[in-house]
Amino acid sequence: MVQGFSREPGTHGPLTEVTPAGLRKITWWAAAIAMGGFLFGFDTGVVSGALLYIRKDFDLDSFQQGSVVSVLLIGSVIGAMGSGRLADRWGRRRLLGTAGAVFLAGTAVAVFANGYGMLLAARIVLGLAVGTVSALVPVYLSEISPTAVRGRLLTMNQLMITVGILVAYLVNMAFSSGGHWRSMFACGAVPATILVAASLWMLPESPQWQIANGKADLARRSIASVADEATADRLVAHAQQRIKDERQSPGKGGGRRLWAPDVRPALIVGLTLAVVQQFGGINTIIYYAPTIIEKTGLSASNAIVYSVAIGVINLVMTLVAIKLVDRLGRRPMVLISLGVMAAFVFLLGLAFVAGLSSGLTLLFMVVYIAAFAGGLGPVFWTLIGEIFPPAVRAQGSGASTAVNWVSNFLVSLGFLPLAGAIGQGETFWVFAGVCVLAFLFVGRFVPETRNRDAEQIQRELNRRFGRAEPEAPSATNTP
Ligand code: BGC
Repeated sequence: MVQGFSREPGTHGPLTEVTPAGLRKITWWAAAIAMGGFLFGFDTGVVSGALLYIRKDFDLDSFQQGSVVSVLLIGSVIGAMGSGRLADRWGRRRLLGTAGAVFLAGTAVAVFANGYGMLLAARIVLGLAVGTVSALVPVYLSEISPTAVRGRLLTMNQLMITVGILVAYLVNMAFSSGGHWRSMFACGAVPATILVAASLWMLPESPQWQIANGKADLARRSIASVADEATADRLVAHAQQRIKDERQSPGKGGGRRLWAPDVRPALIVGLTLAVVQQFGGINTIIYYAPTIIEKTGLSASNAIVYSVAIGVINLVMTLVAIKLVDRLGRRPMVLISLGVMAAFVFLLGLAFVAGLSSGLTLLFMVVYIAAFAGGLGPVFWTLIGEIFPPAVRAQGSGASTAVNWVSNFLVSLGFLPLAGAIGQGETFWVFAGVCVLAFLFVGRFVPETRNRDAEQIQRELNRRFGRAEPEAPSATNTP
């Protein structure tokens, strides 16, 4: 029996009681759930390479090319908005499996597309699935994770997003010589099949959802498979009590639940971080890396190699974040991340304005990506799985994720025109300004969630927003 997983005995909050075998099992579940993150990364990353050949085959003009990229983002907004309600109605597991099936369907339509219209339809369908999993995975991971390792398990989502992006770049490279864009899309069928199979045969339903839906016995059994009976009884009783309290508290019914005074701080934090994560400019580099690198004077083939290198750095720094998130805490990581991003995206802008060497430009770009990947990137997805009270967790995550996709859409669409209008370097300075404002917001309003359960997180949020409540003695882990 393991009593808590924090590496700093005496400094952490709630203890969790999961057996070592139980922890191994949970880690496998988390890896399977995070396959949703892989598809998120793969489907957003694969199109840049595929497009080079599709535009020749289907004779696409620049508007049509842009729309093949961006309709996925529109589908994602819709998928994320619908995901909260569906996750509450169907359960987390069923929705994840359904999203896997939708990924398969969208992939098949893309692979067999006979023209622009069919390709557009495929990208919308893929977007629906990407939006759904991006909102659902943080919630599902949060609800199966013991408190002391929740950050690490939630960060696996971002890890799989970055692996997905990198694999997409590599697949693009592998098939580029023959121009086989259909094969590029087809590779997405493998992770989608794993997702469907895992949800059918491997994953447990979230105990939190089971308890809220009158299936406490099933929840008890599933917790007892990773802990002991007494722990299972205690956690289930605690969650039942909490759900009862939440249902009795006024002003929390219907669609207004997310705007109820005690949930509002979480919503403001979730939505603001969603905007900031995109308006800090990350996807202008992830999506347009080859174009930007070419502008520094390097050749196109070099630019593709460098974009793979950027994908590797993105992945490696996410691994570092996984190591740190349950030790250092979420707040310091996001603050350091935003500080370094602000400084280096400012320098990146300077490199363009002052015409510095391509070596320096690449260096600034790399440090900026590393800073995002080591903090704001993963921790945003961690926090939206943690800050909302259980009863509105899926809806809160859905709303934050939808706003993240809308922001992604606006930045991706607006970047090239803005760079054309005010200059590439000046556009990066706008991103630097956003990072500075975000730093101030996080410093003031974002709660630390490390080693805290849902009640403690709500209390800290209320305190930061000036809604003081008495400090509770100690906490029990809520499943
Ligand atoms: C962001 C994506 C981005 C990715 C890059 C994610 O956290 O939400 O928009 O493409 O990180 O690794």
